[in-house]
Amino acid sequence: MTQDWDGGYIADIGYTHDYFFEMSPAHIGLALLLSGYAAPDHTRPFAYCELGCGQGLTTNVLAAANPTGAFWANDFNPAHINNAQALAMAAGSGNVTFLDHDFAAMAKADLPQFDFIALHGIWSWVNEAARQAVLAFITQRLRVGGVVYVSYNALPGWAAAMPLREVMQHYGRGETSQQRVAAGQQIAARLEALGGAAFAENPAMGAKLKSLAGKPVAYLAHEYFNAVFAPSYFREVAASMGFAKLGYAASSHLRDNEDGLHFNAEAQALLAEFAHPVAREGMRDFLTNRQFRRDIFIRGPRRLTPGAQTEALLRQRLALVAPDPDTLALVMKLPGGEVNLKPGVYRPILQALARRPMRVAELLAEPAIAALGQPIVLEAVRMLCVMHAVMAALPEEGEAQRRASTERFNAAVMALARHADGLRTLASPVLGGGVAANRFDQLFLLAAAQGRPPVDVAWQALQAQGQRVAQGGNSLQGEAENRAALTTIHGEFAHQRLPALRRLGVA
Ligand SMILES: C[S@@+](CC[C@H](N)C(=O)[O-])C[C@H]1O[C@@H](n2cnc3c(N)ncnc32)[C@H](O)[C@@H]1O
Repeated sequence: MTQDWDGGYIADIGYTHDYFFEMSPAHIGLALLLSGYAAPDHTRPFAYCELGCGQGLTTNVLAAANPTGAFWANDFNPAHINNAQALAMAAGSGNVTFLDHDFAAMAKADLPQFDFIALHGIWSWVNEAARQAVLAFITQRLRVGGVVYVSYNALPGWAAAMPLREVMQHYGRGETSQQRVAAGQQIAARLEALGGAAFAENPAMGAKLKSLAGKPVAYLAHEYFNAVFAPSYFREVAASMGFAKLGYAASSHLRDNEDGLHFNAEAQALLAEFAHPVAREGMRDFLTNRQFRRDIFIRGPRRLTPGAQTEALLRQRLALVAPDPDTLALVMKLPGGEVNLKPGVYRPILQALARRPMRVAELLAEPAIAALGQPIVLEAVRMLCVMHAVMAALPEEGEAQRRASTERFNAAVMALARHADGLRTLASPVLGGGVAANRFDQLFLLAAAQGRPPVDVAWQALQAQGQRVAQGGNSLQGEAENRAALTTIHGEFAHQRLPALRRLGVA
């Protein structure tokens, strides 16, 4: 059911609470650096705006982890903004402002010039007027050299599965979004089961339907049941951003930037025939059939010379996010199969980063790593970033200040974990962004902060809501069984996840 202000966008069910690292200034900086572009300096005071922030978790995490940044975020759903403001308030984050403006009101609001404007999960789901308002905002509010992060459902990747959305959205009847989500999936499943030719002749529809199983209703409602669902070709988004004088630089999903990981020699030769970067990037989508894009555009992209890029890479600080440097699988998927990465190159780098976050130049000062030679080390570092084993870290300077604000934020998130399995991200002063931590992780950290036995804290939180530990599809009944299971879960946490959380300044 729509309301006056929502323009057909789902508003009767709140969106999920998720954090997207692809939107963090530190990560965007790394993506641009690896692709040879200059990025806004996020180590100095900067201004950041998230458009359509949903529940606001990403902006809240980024604000806590970057206290020198000034953050704004909007969403026209006041229930989302109320939640986002409550978390900012509980965390004592004084550097973030959440507004329940729509995009048109944002374009008229008195706001600063931004270094970063980010929109995740917006572009494909809003009407043309909202897209125009977003573009007006970017045109007026993004400073020269500033970046836009925009994600969207992409064509041709989405083309084959489009009729599934049509069936669910228009033939799944119900008064509430919740009912429509259930009815939409049911009608699609019935069509498939009775051999409806649209399904039988187009396997992408069934595959997409299957992929929806177990996804949160809130996600499905916002993804498939809005009035608008309009995947775009990259060329079209590049043209829209072009109106705001932006040029494409890179994907924030690092793997997408690595032609060698996607394309064989023949495909790379085809790409080389397209001199214009927009045409080449569009052609990549036909080769990969990618369904989702996470693009970074810049107002005036500035290329780094190879020498400047290397110097900046040497200055780049990195943190190990993979749990264990010794067991991380050193395998990279390529078009023709898998390739094993050389342990003699990768393990020493991982082991050094397991001791502490380091600049690449510091890594190269370690004799065992220096012996590999700079080009090999730089390539290995790049692959570890692509594999998401290693992430961009902020400089050591300012870490104490960042730690003070992330500790406040994390205390607020962990306090919520006592009552609900809600927010699954904590803020890291090392990354300048978030790190995944499930409810038990958070309750165990809370126990450590309070000097209490971890299993007691977790069990009391479950008990207070009549919840039990789930194991193999069943929930355990007796207290002794639950405590035993929690002891095992705590053992895994202490052994596997706690060391990484410590490295990232979260524990
Ligand atoms: C799919 S959700 C994505 C939310 C968030 N970016 C995330 O990824 O978690 C889209 C969001 O855009 C908001 N939205 C849609 N149209 C809008 C408009 N015209 N002005 C402001 N917000 C809008 C919705 O309320 C919703 O929270």
